[in-house]
Amino acid sequence: MGKATEADIKEKGFSKLDQETKPNTEDTNEVSKTNKNRNTISDSRGKNSRRRLKKMMTLSASVHPVQRLFNACKDVFASAGTGFVPSPDKIEQLSTLLDEIQAADVGLTPKMPFFSPQVTRRAPTITYLHIHECEKFSIGIFCLPRSGVLPLHNHPGMTVFSKLLLGTMHIKSYDWLVDPSQTPRHQEVHLAKVKVDADLTAPCKTSILYPADGGNMHCFTAVTAWAVLDVLGPPYSDPEGRHCTYYSDYPFMTFSGTLTADEQVSIPEEEKDKVAWLQERDKPEDLVVVGALYTGPEIVED
Ligand SMILES: [Fe+2]
Repeated sequence: MGKATEADIKEKGFSKLDQETKPNTEDTNEVSKTNKNRNTISDSRGKNSRRRLKKMMTLSASVHPVQRLFNACKDVFASAGTGFVPSPDKIEQLSTLLDEIQAADVGLTPKMPFFSPQVTRRAPTITYLHIHECEKFSIGIFCLPRSGVLPLHNHPGMTVFSKLLLGTMHIKSYDWLVDPSQTPRHQEVHLAKVKVDADLTAPCKTSILYPADGGNMHCFTAVTAWAVLDVLGPPYSDPEGRHCTYYSDYPFMTFSGTLTADEQVSIPEEEKDKVAWLQERDKPEDLVVVGALYTGPEIVED
């Protein structure tokens, strides 16, 4: 038997393993006329099954977490396209795998140079460690020093899993309150509702955003140096209309008095601090993202 993966074990299960050992039993049936012999064969078959299962479990455990993540992504995002949302069990499978991944599993330590404080007037440089990208999904790690900001941006038609590996970050995320495609064409600002506005500290659970929910537009600010393992399905693609757009956000009161009649939206007083106007902007000039070599375990693509 070649390489055994967790999926192999799940697919085969105990019954299949039993079937695989059955020919041995039948071969020896001629000489197993007595109860004693039958018991011996039964014990032997059980031992074989247990040995084989143990061997497969050992092999599976030896597959490193990043490889398991890659294998799962190939399955979960097999039919990914714009607007794709995995089934609940696939989401559970992937988020459980990500929940267990730690910084050391991807070769990261807090002492790496891209986490060091930067003495500069510019915004601190962000480092991206590329692990994998195909047309169905991408896997990579963003590393920010303290005070670094990943500015407010969107993930059009994508499902994104983000696992904070190191540090503390402040996340502010939004979903559209009114889909911009449903508002007057001349309107430059669009209402969004705040989904998350909180600090997140590693270790913590995986965050998931969806094409129209979960905080599809988000901004990450580094309270301390941090690293996030990101899985995007499908990835950004200009030809397929999945372009990364940046936004500025403004409190509700900023524009509410200047809107024309067809732009007016009624928001209860107590809800006004939970919504904001988002306006498209150019990519921030001080946003610098540099690539660095991923030094964690290599992925085998078969
Ligand atoms: Fe993002």
